[in-house]
Amino acid sequence: MQIRKVVIPVAGWGTRSLPASKNIPKEMLPVYNKPVVQYVVEEAIRAGIEDVVFVTNRDKSVIEDHFDYNLQLEGILERSGKYEMLKTIRDVAEMVNIMSVRQKKQLGLGHAVLCAKEMVKNEAFAIMVGDDFILGEHAGLEQLVHLAEERNMPVVGVMEVPAERVNRYGIVFGKEVSPGVYSVSGMVEKPEVGTVDSRLAIVGRYVLPSAIFEHLERVTPGYGGEIQLTDALASLAAERGMLAVKMGGIRFDAGDWVDYLSANIYLGLQDEHLRDELRARLLAMLQ
Ligand code: G1P
Repeated sequence: MQIRKVVIPVAGWGTRSLPASKNIPKEMLPVYNKPVVQYVVEEAIRAGIEDVVFVTNRDKSVIEDHFDYNLQLEGILERSGKYEMLKTIRDVAEMVNIMSVRQKKQLGLGHAVLCAKEMVKNEAFAIMVGDDFILGEHAGLEQLVHLAEERNMPVVGVMEVPAERVNRYGIVFGKEVSPGVYSVSGMVEKPEVGTVDSRLAIVGRYVLPSAIFEHLERVTPGYGGEIQLTDALASLAAERGMLAVKMGGIRFDAGDWVDYLSANIYLGLQDEHLRDELRARLLAMLQ
């Protein structure tokens, strides 16, 4: 299977990021010098993805605009000789093909993915949750794509989380079949703390066959009364098997303020022009 398309659901309200996300989609909040969604799309590109399908709502068109040309701004930068910045913003417009489909009712992550059915058609494809971004060479979606292509099986990306946080994630059960790779025997969406042995949490990365859509059409509302992707995955795994792979790199959940702020600092510290002053200020604040 060759993976060319990724579905990125972006129709959520972003209540965790309020008031910052009142009129700006949470996916457009900046982390260091780029919006969150650009890190997600760059991770997709590193995995060989060519087409991005955003599942949007009426207030999210600025996300598509970000990956399009801004001719007026380009003209201004060109006339003022700011060629480096001109290239930077043009590159964003040229990095990937963008498509979008509306999620007209917010009935859950599974429902959002189902909205992309006609765009994906019969191909195997990837899904990325736009809140989670993963930094690190060869980390994230790339690991799933390699494994899915090699083994011709559906793959979900997981990370180990503390036992008291399992209630925030889809939790995977399975047996380790090679280092960091698990054969999935089941999964449950947001179990109560203390009710599961596994700490393997799905962190928003999936490579799936188009057969997932049949399972999504069949599942009934689950956790929170929503159509859960995790429930459809459990049904797909029971039918044809599934692998989970532990993802490397550093993962930030942009909807969590500690993660969001840490990501800004982490990336700021990587910038040689900012590093020394930022470090000095941080140390001063900690005294
Ligand atoms: C979604 C999924 C969940 C997954 C999580 C993190 O939950 O339903 O299985 O673990 O993303 O990627 P949400 O964070 O949208 O509530």
